[in-house]
Amino acid sequence: MADTRPQVILREMTLDDIDQVFNLDRMSFPTPWPIRTYRYEIEDNEHSCMFVLEPVGEPPVRAKTASPRWWERLLGLGNGSNGNGHHATPFLSGYSGMWHIADEAHVSTIAVHPEWRGRKLGELLLWSMIRQAMLQQAAQVTLEVRVSNSLAQGLYRKYGFEVMGLRKGYYRDNGEDAYMMAVMRLDEAYRARLNGFGRALAQDIHVIDRWWGQPSEEPLPG
Ligand SMILES: CC(C)(COP(=O)(O)OP(=O)(O)OC[C@H]1O[C@@H](n2cnc3c(N)ncnc32)[C@H](O)[C@@H]1OP(=O)(O)O)[C@@H](O)C(=O)NCCC(=O)NCCS
Repeated sequence: MADTRPQVILREMTLDDIDQVFNLDRMSFPTPWPIRTYRYEIEDNEHSCMFVLEPVGEPPVRAKTASPRWWERLLGLGNGSNGNGHHATPFLSGYSGMWHIADEAHVSTIAVHPEWRGRKLGELLLWSMIRQAMLQQAAQVTLEVRVSNSLAQGLYRKYGFEVMGLRKGYYRDNGEDAYMMAVMRLDEAYRARLNGFGRALAQDIHVIDRWWGQPSEEPLPG
């Protein structure tokens, strides 16, 4: 039977990706990282891993959950049109980053192009980062998320993240609080759970992995 799963390439971010990642960042967050920060993360920060997802073939006609904001519509972003009635194919469909310091891995950023949301790509990015964290012997994974971002919190909860505390006024654009969330025990039980998620993901997405093994394989040696 033909393989109808969408295909994506998962790979390390390079300097050539920065312009596109910066655009994705602007579509996804009120305060995007400056371009020099991406350069630093790729070239200089030895604690940082940055990843991108590159779709293979046509983008979806309409995303399941994407709801373009007014400025995305104005710029012809987020609804698949470039404003002239032509379809703008996004070259990168998502990106993410992680810092690994001592025994802690910290999700520094994660975003999926509005046109590709609701198709498990955010989950694939998170899965990949946790797997990387485990391969690097991290004991825990942490992150911050806006208290209003219930969608992202849903994804994190699915992967066992729990709220560990609140950072008051953490976001400088509107002074919103952040939840600190963490998976505190990357143990054998969690490894088995992650492997199960990897197998489920492989049913929905064909990952051409230029970084690690396929999600359909046992992601971590037992
Ligand atoms: C958060 C984000 C990365 C999720 O990516 P995505 O590709 O749309 O999400 P997925 O399709 O992989 O969804 C995976 C899980 O997320 C949760 N989720 C996704 N869409 C959801 C929705 N509309 N409502 C509630 N939960 C949702 C679910 O737990 C889902 O698992 P399920 O499909 O088994 O129910 C994406 O929405 C995004 O880029 N948002 C803007 C940037 C951002 O907020 N980043 C997080 C910063 S902390």
